[in-house]
Amino acid sequence: MNATATAPAPAASVPRRPRVHMAAFGCQMNVLDAEVVVGELLRRGYERAATEDAADVVLFHTCSVRQHAEDRVWSRLGALRRRKKLDPSLRIGVLGCMAQRDGRSILVRAPHVDVVCGTRMFPRIGELLDRTREGERVLAVDEVECLPPPRNLSARPDRHKAFVTVMRGCDHRCTFCIVPTVRGPEVSVPEDDVVAEVEALAGDGAVEVTLLGQNIDSYGRDLPGQPTLARLLRRCAAAPGLRRLRFITSHPGDVTEELLDTMGADPRLCPYLHMPAQSGSDPVLKRMARKYTAARYREIVAEARRRVPGIELASDWIVGFPGETEADFEASLGLLREVEFQTSYVFQYSTRPGTPATRLADDVPGEVKRDRNHRLLAAQTEISERRNRARAGEIAEVLVDGPSERDSSRLSGRTRENQVVVFPGPAAWRGTFRRVRVTGATAAALYGEAEGLAAGRG
Ligand code: SAM
Ligand code: F3S
Repeated sequence: MNATATAPAPAASVPRRPRVHMAAFGCQMNVLDAEVVVGELLRRGYERAATEDAADVVLFHTCSVRQHAEDRVWSRLGALRRRKKLDPSLRIGVLGCMAQRDGRSILVRAPHVDVVCGTRMFPRIGELLDRTREGERVLAVDEVECLPPPRNLSARPDRHKAFVTVMRGCDHRCTFCIVPTVRGPEVSVPEDDVVAEVEALAGDGAVEVTLLGQNIDSYGRDLPGQPTLARLLRRCAAAPGLRRLRFITSHPGDVTEELLDTMGADPRLCPYLHMPAQSGSDPVLKRMARKYTAARYREIVAEARRRVPGIELASDWIVGFPGETEADFEASLGLLREVEFQTSYVFQYSTRPGTPATRLADDVPGEVKRDRNHRLLAAQTEISERRNRARAGEIAEVLVDGPSERDSSRLSGRTRENQVVVFPGPAAWRGTFRRVRVTGATAAALYGEAEGLAAGRG
């Protein structure tokens, strides 16, 4: 063996890679957009900071859907003001819906923010951050849609599951909703691109993929040949290695028989439909411009249950929409009880500047909104608890997500119907499928034992 004695090389000063921390607010699409941003920055030589305090660059991917979501971002930005005073090299970016809506006014109100980057420009974040190095404060809220770069698969937070955006924007004009303003008209990702991304993810270990769109049922209407969501689902489900395919979110007016039949025909397509009703009162639905009646909603539910055996439904509800009377609210309660949703997401109406509903007086007092919120959730809890308890003794097929958030000594995962199941098992089971015998339940989850575990534990 050759041994050469050399003097130690003078320590070269290797510039440290900038560390980035990203927080996403709001919907799953924002979580995925944040992943795309981080993936792009990793490709450009950044590294991930474990905490916000350890970061050289702090980015917020924001949501404008409710005032509350914006307030949370402003409070996080406020906390960074002092840090930036002590360390002017810290760079701060506001991305996504708030950036698109408020643009320059964010730079004015928060002089410590370096980049404001809207919903269509975030794929360019690397170049925008480069410009801030010289002290430039950058505003990028152009109308032009920038296509995200090819996905950096290594930036995925979970190996076993992934989201894929198939369309952005929305052509509906629900009067309460800021999404069409901040995300623009519907733009679908070409079918072949979606299929290629799903195949790449499945090849990289994803066994479950969720396709995302603000109004996903109208996928493809803007593409040549107008491919339907049903056709896209059939093609994606065939990706080798993929075991489960989901999609969110559905507008009741756009759910087709073709879609339901496709879901019912392929076991890889999860029998779960997130189809917000918003209200059970026709006058309220009309003022919301939802384009369906409560009776039509019931018909679609019946059709879904007929064509997709075992399907579970989830809904969003807005309480305290302008002019909502007690009788209107009770119509929502009635619809919720009748349909027996698996999950209900309840929101108290908040006026979004620029939406058509600003023309209506926000006349339901805060305490009434809170009370209705509470009553709707209580009704859902009662339904979920009863239905979940009735499942004792069943075997559930669970894809394990990892330790339960509430009790890290146990595992948590989901069934095909999107039901949470909690049970004991080793951390190494993350990302695997397990058969779990249900022994108990709450409104939020089923509890049980993995089949064969008792014998295996010795
Ligand atoms: N199709 C969309 C999706 O992908 O979920 C729905 C838009 S929004 C992101 C999600 C939910 O927020 C809506 O279904 C609605 O219940 C609620 N929401 C939207 N605007 C609201 C407002 N101004 N006040 C209260 N809740 C609102
Ligand atoms: Fe918003 Fe209605 Fe579209 S809730 S995202 S305008 S379907």
